[in-house]
Amino acid sequence: MTVPFSEKRIYLIGGPGGVGKTTLAASLAIRFSVQGYRTLVLTVDPAKRLAQTLGLTSFSTELRKVTLTDHPQAELHAYMLDGEHAFDRIIARFAKNEQQKQKILENRFYRTIVESLGGSHEYAAMEQILAFASDPQFDKIIVDTPPTQNAIDLFKAPQRLADFMDAPVISWFQKKGGFQLFQKGTQLAMKALQNILGSEFLEQLALFLTDLQGMQSGFRERHLAVMEVLRGNTTAFILVTQASEARFLESLEFQKALNQENIQISQLILNRLERYWPPLTSTQLPEAQRTWLHGLHEYFEELHALQEKWAKAFEAELGVPTVYIQRLSHPTTELHTLLDLGNQITGSL
Ligand SMILES: Nc1ncnc2c1ncn2[C@@H]1O[C@H](COP(=O)(O)OP(=O)(O)OP(=O)(O)O)[C@@H](O)[C@H]1O
Ligand SMILES: [Mg+2]
Repeated sequence: MTVPFSEKRIYLIGGPGGVGKTTLAASLAIRFSVQGYRTLVLTVDPAKRLAQTLGLTSFSTELRKVTLTDHPQAELHAYMLDGEHAFDRIIARFAKNEQQKQKILENRFYRTIVESLGGSHEYAAMEQILAFASDPQFDKIIVDTPPTQNAIDLFKAPQRLADFMDAPVISWFQKKGGFQLFQKGTQLAMKALQNILGSEFLEQLALFLTDLQGMQSGFRERHLAVMEVLRGNTTAFILVTQASEARFLESLEFQKALNQENIQISQLILNRLERYWPPLTSTQLPEAQRTWLHGLHEYFEELHALQEKWAKAFEAELGVPTVYIQRLSHPTTELHTLLDLGNQITGSL
């Protein structure tokens, strides 16, 4: 059963860096809340002005009630996603007890692994979606996402973690008795390793692997639960991007990768489109300025034509309902502007 766009519950706003994800996530959230939905926006690093509009004046990872002037009846909450400690929170969640948690968090090896895994912001976003998806106090949940070099990374974060935990080398160490294996250090290979890596390093690694014991299934289940929410028919994925060749090619790849995961793009937003400027034909201006204006006009005309070309390509190839949003020349952080942008995203619903 397909659920119309306006009746979805979770709206994920994804796309490359700097295209307007945070702005449009806030817009959609404001729009829904003004319409009477109890709305939550999960936001990532909003610019200062936008944070102020959302009532997120200081850095806080608590749920905040947002008061919208002129719309006192609107029920809007905002929550700032914190990527910094995302993995620590997962360890805390899955650890069997306080002692196991502390031991892992304090392990030097754990820190190295967390850094090399990357994507902690993506993981934080996915985690919070799961946490709030089951919270009945929200009718609509709008999820702003971190800029991802390759947008599909967003969905891969929980999987990467689960895969890492299932890696053969980890289960091998654990099966072999983990810590004891290193402690004995009798085997030739272990001695050689100790010489290369240092015994303290090996000890930390062994402790870490032993400590992780019993937590793997938690990670795997978490990944499956995230995928279930993302694939659910009340979740909409909105791709925000720009009408250019590079963005077009990237979006095709992204759509392919999403489809492989059984996730469909519900809506495409081409943001910050240049409007068409008619030529200025004032004869009162001096020659030099007229030539300059003419050059500027030609530049915008070309830009406009290119945008049109790529917007058509998007429409033809992606086959997804598309919203076109113009580049505004005034700040996009005022409440009425955001509400207007939100109305544009939802169209005439
Ligand atoms: N339609 C628009 N017209 C003019 N400016 C816009 C428009 N949409 C967004 N902007 C501006 O573009 C800048 C980037 O927007 P925003 O922070 O929302 O992007 P983002 O995709 O969340 O970036 P990041 O990937 O870094 O998180 C901001 O200054 C915002 O005000
Ligand atoms: Mg952003």
